[in-house]
Amino acid sequence: MQMPLSLQQAVERELGGASAQEVRRAALALSRRYREKGAPDGESFLTSEAEMRAYAVFRMPGTYAALVRALELGCAAGLAPVRTLTDVGCGSGSALWAVRTVFPGLERAHLLEREAGMLALARRLFAGETGCAADFAQGDMRSAPLPPAELVTASYALGELRPEEAEALLPRLWEAAQGALLLVEPGTPEGHARLRRWASALRALGARVLAPCPAGTQDCPLGETDFCAFTARVERTRLHRFLKEGERGFEDESFAFLLAAREAGAPPPGRVLRRPRVHSGFVELTLCREGAVRPAKVTRRDPSFKRARKADDGDPWEET
Ligand SMILES: C[S@@+](CC[C@H](N)C(=O)[O-])C[C@H]1O[C@@H](n2cnc3c(N)ncnc32)[C@H](O)[C@@H]1O
Repeated sequence: MQMPLSLQQAVERELGGASAQEVRRAALALSRRYREKGAPDGESFLTSEAEMRAYAVFRMPGTYAALVRALELGCAAGLAPVRTLTDVGCGSGSALWAVRTVFPGLERAHLLEREAGMLALARRLFAGETGCAADFAQGDMRSAPLPPAELVTASYALGELRPEEAEALLPRLWEAAQGALLLVEPGTPEGHARLRRWASALRALGARVLAPCPAGTQDCPLGETDFCAFTARVERTRLHRFLKEGERGFEDESFAFLLAAREAGAPPPGRVLRRPRVHSGFVELTLCREGAVRPAKVTRRDPSFKRARKADDGDPWEET
């Protein structure tokens, strides 16, 4: 998967006068701070222009890909196309671009972001696009108005709040979500643990979880030491490879997500949780189904062998 060409070009234009060294240095500083301190806990990590540009170059392709994959899995579980979007903590605007990719009929979007520079960057990146009216509002998601929309998204954003602040915000996000609410977090044990708590809180408000939990799963069957995360593969552009000094032509974004909806949708009976391990005569899968996570071995004689060989983590799984 790759970001739309017009977005790639807009990001390249942003680099304009900045040297590769400068962007690389800012990206390294940013990721070091995230690694050392974890989520920022209410304070901002993205303040300088260089860091914001670095975010668009290095993180946006991954967060865009995670959002597209989560939305596609949502569609397979019955998420209906949306025409309106509210995105909180929008950063450089990944959610807007991802929702448009999956739902080209998107007509109106409201993006909320605390950092003026980041918001300005999101606005500039989207400036040449037509067919969707987007307004970019500066504000704090903990207190700013949240216009109702068919889809509300918070991607890699709620985890930046203190746990009690994120939990206090959930009912407001849910109230604004006329159709569905999509929350995306890093694919880490912490990201999964947060989503697990939020899933319970949303269920208590009447939400139905369309994905990733299979049909009928009320409580996550994973123990405290395990977690549920998926991968979105992003092809690197030449610029990306050069700036990242990477040899590989792709990178894998690991993400965790939760899609809650007002309608029950059609979640699949099972889901592939880890990357399948393909051997010569059989495939090893880890499946979440019927309220349990279990390994499964699919052999050549099995009717689902072909499907298992091609399966990816996150894919719906049905017995054949
Ligand atoms: C890690 S970035 C994610 C950006 C984007 N959603 C994405 O997926 O690429 C988190 C963003 O949330 C913003 N943010 C953090 N706390 C916020 C708050 N209280 N109100 C609004 N935005 C906030 C940050 O400024 C940053 O742009």
